[in-house]
This record gives sequence, C-alpha cells and structure tokens, in this order.
Amino acid sequence: MERKILVTGASGLVGSDLVLALQEIVGRENVIALERHEAPPSFEGIHELADVRDSEKLEALIQKYKITEVYHLAGLLSAGGEKDPDLAWDVNVGGLRNVLRLAVKYQLKVFWPSSIAVFGPTTPKEDVPQHTVLEPTTMYGVNKVSGELLCQYYFTRYGVDVRSLRYPGLLGYKAPPGDGTTEYAIHIFYGAIRDNHYVSYIDKGSVLPMMFMEDAVNGTIQLMNAPKEKISVRTSYNFSAIQFAPEDLVKEIQKANPKFTCEYQPDSRQKIANSWPKTIDDSQARKDWNWSEAYDLKKLTAIMYQKIKEKIG
Ligand code: SER
Repeated sequence: MERKILVTGASGLVGSDLVLALQEIVGRENVIALERHEAPPSFEGIHELADVRDSEKLEALIQKYKITEVYHLAGLLSAGGEKDPDLAWDVNVGGLRNVLRLAVKYQLKVFWPSSIAVFGPTTPKEDVPQHTVLEPTTMYGVNKVSGELLCQYYFTRYGVDVRSLRYPGLLGYKAPPGDGTTEYAIHIFYGAIRDNHYVSYIDKGSVLPMMFMEDAVNGTIQLMNAPKEKISVRTSYNFSAIQFAPEDLVKEIQKANPKFTCEYQPDSRQKIANSWPKTIDDSQARKDWNWSEAYDLKKLTAIMYQKIKEKIG
C-alpha cells in the first residue's frame, strides 16, 4: 500500500527533522507538512495550513491526500502550557482526540509523542520503570498522561495502531527551541555562539534525561516500522539515551569555545525540572523493537555547536 504521511507541528523542533527523514524514505510527494503558519522559506515539499483543533479541516486534508499515517507532533510544551493551561488542554488533548477519531474512520496508523513530563514528584528519580506512578504537576504533563491513556483506549477499543514514545529533552539544531524546560540545552548554544555567555534558567546539578534529535528521529521511525506484534506498550514507551546537568553541557561547549561562560538564574521552569526524573529505564523499548542510541554528550555537543554556528554565522 502506498504510504501517504501527514505530519502536524511540521516546523517544530521534532517536525523539522522528522519531515526531512520521512521525505527521504517515502518521497517528497508523499509527506504533507501541516502547520498553523506559513512554511519557512527553505522548506521544500507539500505544506498545508491548519489548526489541529479543527477536525473538519483535518478530515478534508486526510481525504484530499488519501493519508495512511499521521505523525501528530503539534502541541504546547511544559512552560508554554503553564502560561495558558486551557489552550494547552485544547491543543494537546483535543488535537490528539481529533486525530484518533479520524484514525478510526480512515484506518490511519498514528505516532504521537509523549514526554518525561508524565512523571512527577512521586515518581522514582532514578531508572524510572515503564510502569510507574504518573502524577505530573504541569498541565503539559497532565495532557501527556491523558493522551497516553487515550492512545491505549483507542487501540484496545477500536484497534487503532497508535504508537508513542516518552521523549526526553531533545537537542536539535534545525528549528529554534520551543517554550519548554529542557530547551535550555538548545538556547545555551545560541548564547555561546552569539555572546560567549548564557544565563541558564535551569540550575547547576539539575540532571535530566536528554537525547540528540537524530537518535529521537531514528527511534521514532524504528518504532513505527516495527511489526505490530512486537509493540507491547500502547500508552507510551520509556525512551532514553543520556542524562546531564547544565554544567556538564557547559564543559563540553567550552571545548569548542574556551571563552564561553555560563551563569545560573533559575526561574519557574526550575520547579518543573525538579519534578522530573534524572534517569529512565527504557529496557522495554530496547527489547521490543531493538532501540539503541548512537550519540553521547560529547558527540552531540560538537555537532550542535558546529551546525548552529553555520546557521547563525
Ligand atoms: N522538552 C519538553 C519540555 O521541557 C519536555 O517534553 O517542555
């Protein structure tokens, strides 16, 4: 069967990389990039404007392109969600519900990202198991837990082949960082390159689970390619690569830029970081569909620095 893929949130942090990777696999003519705003001038491919809260528009696009798969990435992040919790609920949960309902009607295969934000202060801090306490403190986390349960419900009740990963903090260089908590780890490169300095809103000692974007994209594609019978988790898989604190990243960046300095002024996002775990046990993903990462902190820092430097000059 011909694959026709719709990617929502296509110019976001994950979308900017995932759309290119999918275009490579199925051809540019078979990937429809959906956004609320115009595509960046550099974008090559099919672009459509829509809001994921608009189910009718989504349905019209699914019909127009005879969509078979949706990578539903559109959503607000943790800090953005705290600024407007109602909007976060409508976009993050309402948007997912629209996609899942349409998946029943058009037999679509769906990918949806969850996050380490499903965890909260009552979750163990180290080696968080796949099945654990999910009592997040942010609206974003509440949305992600609700979304995970919706995914599992649509799988068991309607047989929708929906698959999901609990993304850690992701580091990519193509799109500008969004309004999240772990995004300090992207902002810091812009500071290091532009000003030789960065004021971090996350404090020293805050170890968080992190991953290079290429690993995240490869893992996502691997999960979606895995045979259906291998998928034992229909809420969302724990998904992990490395973990570090801001000062660990600072040391690595200083190898590329010895003049770089960082100071720490934690704000409200620190509280969010404090509620999340440091390390994740993702052995289920490794066992079910052979997940493994390729990038460590040293390797990803060198690439991030170089690529952002090329981008901003
Ligand atoms: N990067 C996200 C955030 O901090 C975590 O899913 O909001």
